[in-house]
Amino acid sequence: MRNYDTSFSVLSKGVEGEKPYFRSKRGAMEHEEWDKIDLARRRIMQRRKLGRTDLNLSTIGMGTWAIGGGNWKFAWGPQDDRESVFAIHRALDLGINWIDTAPIYGLGHSEEVVGKALKGLKEKPIIATKCGLLWDRERSTSSCLKKKSILCEIEASLKRLRVDVIDLYQIHWPRPDEDIEEAWGSIADLVKKGKVRYAGVSNFSVEQLKRIQPIHSVASLQPPYSMLERGVEDELLKYCSEEGIGVIVYSPMQKGLLTGKFNAERVKNLPKDDHRREDSHFQEPELSANLRLVEDLRSITEKRDKTVAQLAIAWVLRRPELTAAIVGARRPSQIEETASVGDWVLSGEDIRAINKLLDERQKVLNLS
Ligand SMILES: NC(=O)c1ccc[n+]([C@@H]2O[C@H](COP(=O)([O-])OP(=O)(O)OC[C@H]3O[C@@H](n4cnc5c(N)ncnc54)[C@H](OP(=O)(O)O)[C@@H]3O)[C@@H](O)[C@H]2O)c1
Repeated sequence: MRNYDTSFSVLSKGVEGEKPYFRSKRGAMEHEEWDKIDLARRRIMQRRKLGRTDLNLSTIGMGTWAIGGGNWKFAWGPQDDRESVFAIHRALDLGINWIDTAPIYGLGHSEEVVGKALKGLKEKPIIATKCGLLWDRERSTSSCLKKKSILCEIEASLKRLRVDVIDLYQIHWPRPDEDIEEAWGSIADLVKKGKVRYAGVSNFSVEQLKRIQPIHSVASLQPPYSMLERGVEDELLKYCSEEGIGVIVYSPMQKGLLTGKFNAERVKNLPKDDHRREDSHFQEPELSANLRLVEDLRSITEKRDKTVAQLAIAWVLRRPELTAAIVGARRPSQIEETASVGDWVLSGEDIRAINKLLDERQKVLNLS
């Protein structure tokens, strides 16, 4: 029997009266044991309500961009589907109760892999997917927010995910800007038809949120947020908090850069179809400053017996306006390391020390 709970600290009671969310598909003789684990997890994995919805999300959500696999413009190099399915199952074992995906991740493949992982599960996790990005036979991508296109997209997503309803359906990018009202109205219709439970958006500004709110309520915003990308702190977090809009942030480890597992050599040797090669955070002059930051963060993680990946996620979750962080993983060991951080509350001392390091990094970049 595996040892399941060693990486968790008991800090939160979780959602009372909720049925165990996930029962692993292990052998029958282990079911009794799994029931106990579900109950234990339920008590320790912190959950927060998403805005004004009735969705209670674990503070860590499972991100599935990288598991979409290689051979498209924003790929992460080759990926083994079996490992992806194991990673998803492990995430659910660990008390994560929701998965974020999108049709564009692997041009349909991420949704297919999620669908495969969910097959046969009696109690499915909450599923968040998106619309608005399309691809063609040459595997080129484009944006479209027209009603007709969204109606086709949802049918394809439901089929790939093997579900009857999408819990959270999000506009992936507000592009083209002039069509966001049309897209939002179409998604509101899908809610009425029962194909979507809640509607959310991603990468929207405050102005864009204000334009769509009169059409239908916005359940959530999905923006980027990490130690290296702090744009949401300016006005979006405050606005969402005032408006009761849930916030689920993406790339909290800056696509793996803030994990302590990168160095210049690894960046140089990333597979040809790993889009991070073109990402400015992974290129000079930023790369050296970012790797330096990671080294400096170790002075904090070593004191707390944590890893840099865990610190990066706990740092974003310190903001009370956040519902959760979407944490990407492409194998079980990665999510094992990061899932345990959902309940870690950073001390004021640690936050001040991190902010000082972030200021120092910024100064170095301003000079370069
Ligand atoms: N709405 C949007 O526009 C948008 C944009 C971006 C992301 N998202 C969503 O947010 C999710 C999370 O963001 P993300 O995947 O971009 O970035 P992330 O969560 O910051 O980083 C995930 C990557 O870090 C590496 N990693 C994960 N755990 C690790 C560990 N314990 N040790 C070492 N490396 C580890 C893995 O890549 P390697 O092993 O290859 O290094 C993994 O794919 C996505 O999967 C997606 O669902 C949405």
